[in-house]
Amino acid sequence: MTDLLTIARPDDWHLHLRDGPMLAAVAPETARHFARALVMPNLVPPVVTAAGAAAYRARILEALPREAAFTPLMTLYLTEATDPAEVVAAHAAGVVTAVKLYPAGATTNSASGVREMDRVMPVLEAMAEAGVPLCIHGEVTDPEVDIFDREAVFLTRVLEPLRRRVPGLRVVLEHVTTAEGVEYVRGSGPGIAGTLTAHHLVLTRNHLLAGGIRPHYYCLPVAKRARHRDALVAAATSGDGRFFLGTDSAPHPDGLKEHACGCAGCFTAPVALAVVAAVFEAAGALDRLEGFVSRHGAAFYGLPENAGTLTLRRGEALPPAGKLVTGAGPVTVFDPGFALHWKVVPARAGGAAA
Ligand code: NCD
Ligand code: ZN
Repeated sequence: MTDLLTIARPDDWHLHLRDGPMLAAVAPETARHFARALVMPNLVPPVVTAAGAAAYRARILEALPREAAFTPLMTLYLTEATDPAEVVAAHAAGVVTAVKLYPAGATTNSASGVREMDRVMPVLEAMAEAGVPLCIHGEVTDPEVDIFDREAVFLTRVLEPLRRRVPGLRVVLEHVTTAEGVEYVRGSGPGIAGTLTAHHLVLTRNHLLAGGIRPHYYCLPVAKRARHRDALVAAATSGDGRFFLGTDSAPHPDGLKEHACGCAGCFTAPVALAVVAAVFEAAGALDRLEGFVSRHGAAFYGLPENAGTLTLRRGEALPPAGKLVTGAGPVTVFDPGFALHWKVVPARAGGAAA
């Protein structure tokens, strides 16, 4: 049995780093394992300008240990007031890698998101022209739509019409949680990809709701039935280059998770690679792990693969990850509900390629 696995340094194509004392605590957790991460802009207030993205990037770099070889890739938060020319210029200058679409009200800090897709058409058309990818939180917010159906309804009600209107737009359907989402990405030709989180490769809605409510498993999109989870695992382990890791690691202080109206988000950064390795091992697909965590995403974004390697070693069960102490309060680390055996051996220097 393989007990040592060396792969190109991985990337996280969907990450929440927050700001201030939370940023200071969580950024090193990601930088320890990942060479690059696409950093979400849903701060309060959101990151809506190139200057805002550059300043946030500087704060992230400041939060990292000196020896960290980590490159934050920045995103802009799409609003109905976003200026097409600013987006195109910020991308051309290398300040932002992608633009993020949150339907207004879909999730944490999405109040400034998009209400009417018509109002962002000029931006999306300019992005298509300039090759700027759009990362999409793919859930409708219609209160009439059941929360477990919001992703599937988004595909037909919003995403398909959008892609017909702007066919050249490169799209990432983020944190796919349904068999329908997987099928949509598979059936849509080039120019579309799907990210998958570590936790959605493990969780079903039973983890969240059966035998007691477990707030640390509450995230958006919410975990679905086992058949959907199984479709995600099949997509991740298939070797299909359109699927890659975006952890959506989303820290909230425990006090806001264990709450009458708890926040959505699972903090997975410290264990994400160990969890994904366990899922790939169980599927007999460890030979495809590198593609999923280190190659497919860079290829989609047209970025070089990372220099340097990361080694995972299979051994004794790791101690439970417990909580990360942060200046914003303790944050519970995602517990997959089974023992983790793949430990990340500290990465060799080599750094991020871009
Ligand atoms: C994210 C957060 O906390 O910022 N929460 C989550 O449940 N995933 C927002 C998001 O990406 O939906
Ligand atoms: Zn997210």
